[in-house]
Amino acid sequence: MSITRRGLFAMSAAIGAGLVGPPWLARARAQSGLADWIAVRELFDLSPDRVHMSTMLLTSHPAPVREAIEKHRRNLDADPVEYLEENGDALTEASRSAAADYLGMNPAHIALTDSTTMGIGLIYSALDLGPGDEVLTTDEDYYVTHHALRHLSERTGVTIRRISLFDDVRETTRQEIVDRIRAEIRPETRMLALTWVHSSTGLKIPVAEIAGVVREANAARDEDEQLLFGLDAVHGFGVETENFFELGVDFYAAGCHKWLFGPRGTGIAAISERGLALTRPTIPTFDDSTVFSAWYREEDIPAGNNGPRMTPGGFKPFEHCWSLPEAFELHARIGREDIAIRTHELASVLKEALSSIDGVKVHTPRDAELSSGIVAFDVEGLGSEAVVSRLRKRSIVASVAPYPSALVRLTPSIRNTQEEVEQAAAAVREIA
Ligand SMILES: Cc1ncc(COP(=O)(O)O)c(C=O)c1O
Repeated sequence: MSITRRGLFAMSAAIGAGLVGPPWLARARAQSGLADWIAVRELFDLSPDRVHMSTMLLTSHPAPVREAIEKHRRNLDADPVEYLEENGDALTEASRSAAADYLGMNPAHIALTDSTTMGIGLIYSALDLGPGDEVLTTDEDYYVTHHALRHLSERTGVTIRRISLFDDVRETTRQEIVDRIRAEIRPETRMLALTWVHSSTGLKIPVAEIAGVVREANAARDEDEQLLFGLDAVHGFGVETENFFELGVDFYAAGCHKWLFGPRGTGIAAISERGLALTRPTIPTFDDSTVFSAWYREEDIPAGNNGPRMTPGGFKPFEHCWSLPEAFELHARIGREDIAIRTHELASVLKEALSSIDGVKVHTPRDAELSSGIVAFDVEGLGSEAVVSRLRKRSIVASVAPYPSALVRLTPSIRNTQEEVEQAAAAVREIA
């Protein structure tokens, strides 16, 4: 990692004052060379008397994001109309561009949302499919995917089919997962709806390899029968290094308020060219002026679809929406690879420590290729709610996976120290 504590504080103050932009950050990063994860931890106002290991739920804002929110809030409170009129479009586009840079794609393919849930809902419930078409998903996907697809099916008659990706998550392999998907794709399957990192078990699926299977299937299909690939990407976004094209998906939805440490209530949905062709906007947008002008002039709306059109309109908590660039800048400044390595390192220390405790069963695969920052486990003879509540009494913030299997999750991130990870494991040992 190449970041200094002083450098980070100087950066956050300078960004807050609007003095610096990405070129400065890039230069500063190139010049510094001292690892300092404590400096990262100190960017958060998290209460110091607890070990916070639930990044996967909702973030605390780091200093640069807090300061940006505060700056926009002050300006909006002073003059909401003029600040919006004079800055709104540019600030919104800056957020879209920051997301596009992170994903390595064109901003015209990015919809700005308020969460993963909104992104998945906007995309899956708006697919231009009908009776005779099938969407393939899995038993292991989350409520958000299952219910967006259920709404689609109820409205359009599309068939939703679920499969299981593995027999035993602890023993599974990339091959098993990829083979199961390959075997289950049928001529009528038009959409594959998966989740990058499962919040039930912490399994990370081999997305790029699955995208290869989708490409193989499409090679033999006509253009209007292509199979598309949608991904709930939230628990890989901000942790893993692959961009949109490296993953090879058509739809990528993520909240920015978890691992990216972005403003609460922000999210993105990235959509490929053919994905845009298969979806229709649901909520009137304020981000594509051609749509509004056409309405105003009582003309036809220009053909086609794009990310801005897929972005729900209406007035929003703009101070949050416009502070997204600072989250992406902080991420770039700390370093994409460094974040991935650090998160994997902490998760693997935790998995090792938990696995050595009698009565504790870690369900997350040990293999870093099949896991990310989520560590899921259970304790023999104790319900998950009881484990989480006993951990809270020991000042460790864990969570119960909201799935029928309901495992306990600890999710170390770059804002945790190795000592905190060891403290969490020691607390589990006490109650096991
Ligand atoms: C896999 C998965 N998708 C979506 C969500 C919901 O995310 P958001 O709060 O961004 O809608 C969660 C839970 O936090 C999740 O675990």
